[in-house]
Amino acid sequence: MSREPRVAIYPGSFDPLTNGHVDIITRGARLFDEIVVAVLLNPEKSPLFTFDERVAIAREVFASLPNVQVDVFEGLLVDYARRRRATAIVRGLRAISDFEYEMQMALMNRRLSGDIETVFMMPAEAYTYVSSRLVKEISALGGNVSGLVPPVVEARLRDKHPRR
Ligand code: PNS
Repeated sequence: MSREPRVAIYPGSFDPLTNGHVDIITRGARLFDEIVVAVLLNPEKSPLFTFDERVAIAREVFASLPNVQVDVFEGLLVDYARRRRATAIVRGLRAISDFEYEMQMALMNRRLSGDIETVFMMPAEAYTYVSSRLVKEISALGGNVSGLVPPVVEARLRDKHPRR
């Protein structure tokens, strides 16, 4: 008997995509039939990477994983998840410090849409301290971010912050 494909959404700003994100997406791709990396279109923030750049990077990095899709969304995440017929939202939990914000979002999303489950996944230990914010700061100050982000992100960061 055939069943509906299990679709999960992995939402975020991805400014920029880090190896921590890549780790979670790769793990998610083994659990779900399809995982949609959903890049938030948020005109209020002033990101380092343009929206098009963030989408292009994710498409390039996951080109070889057929059940990973990259899409964009705006508005409520649960509305987008429903449109995509997703049954789960995947979020990474690096440390206790992530927990409060993540629990608040998960419970609020459950209140908004009780049939979409948030699934927390832990990245490999090597990425538990990696964040997009720190990567941007290190790169802007001339530090080495090799191994923390995919090579395409490293190259694009070098273009944005040429070594002084
Ligand atoms: O990578 P981030 O910035 O931590 O991702 C946050 C994100 C995109 C998951 C969150 O801001 C979000 O879901 N925004 C969409 C608007 C929404 O649904 N807000 C209510 C969340 S409870």
